[in-house]
Amino acid sequence: MKHIKDIQNELLEAVQTSPYGEKTIVFGEGAENPALMMIGEAPGGDEEKQGRPFVGKAGKNLSAFLEVVGLKREEIYISNVVKLRPTKESPKTGKAVNRPPSADEIAFFLPYLLEEIKTISPKVVVTLGNVPLKAVTGERKAVIGDYHGRPVMLADGRTLFALYHPAAVIYNRALQATYDEDLLELKAFLQKEGLA
Ligand code: URA
Repeated sequence: MKHIKDIQNELLEAVQTSPYGEKTIVFGEGAENPALMMIGEAPGGDEEKQGRPFVGKAGKNLSAFLEVVGLKREEIYISNVVKLRPTKESPKTGKAVNRPPSADEIAFFLPYLLEEIKTISPKVVVTLGNVPLKAVTGERKAVIGDYHGRPVMLADGRTLFALYHPAAVIYNRALQATYDEDLLELKAFLQKEGLA
């Protein structure tokens, strides 16, 4: 079994000979062998600056999530599918702004995420939005609307619990009630399994 450091080193080596050699790589972090691993899409500006996943605004969302489900940040493992910040140049300001990760970026980073999951070996994988949902299920056609808010058994025996991405909830206020209900379902599931 590989150690998480081995996977990180392999990734850094591959990045150096890739088109992403100049980018900051934001690794996953947290408990090894935790009950729960959370997987987001990709780091944003705050994460790129600090070199850590889910800080800044996304970190606040994460704290609210942890509060509801009854876990601490250091008790879980947190990562992203794509480990660099996908950016484009804003036509207005000329500055770098976030964009969704490309298919090439996802394909480059996916094998390392799958290795990371095996090594961290969480019982429950919580995905935020469509990008990690597709990555974890291996189903290109998987959509969050079909999966969210209930435990789903994955091929490797782990449990997937898919949530909407908190950013989607901000852009679509109608999703807030669904997101809140899903969190309570996750909490009930973790308690039933003795995991929180
Ligand atoms: N920050 C992350 O690290 N991941 C996300 O998916 C969003 C913000």
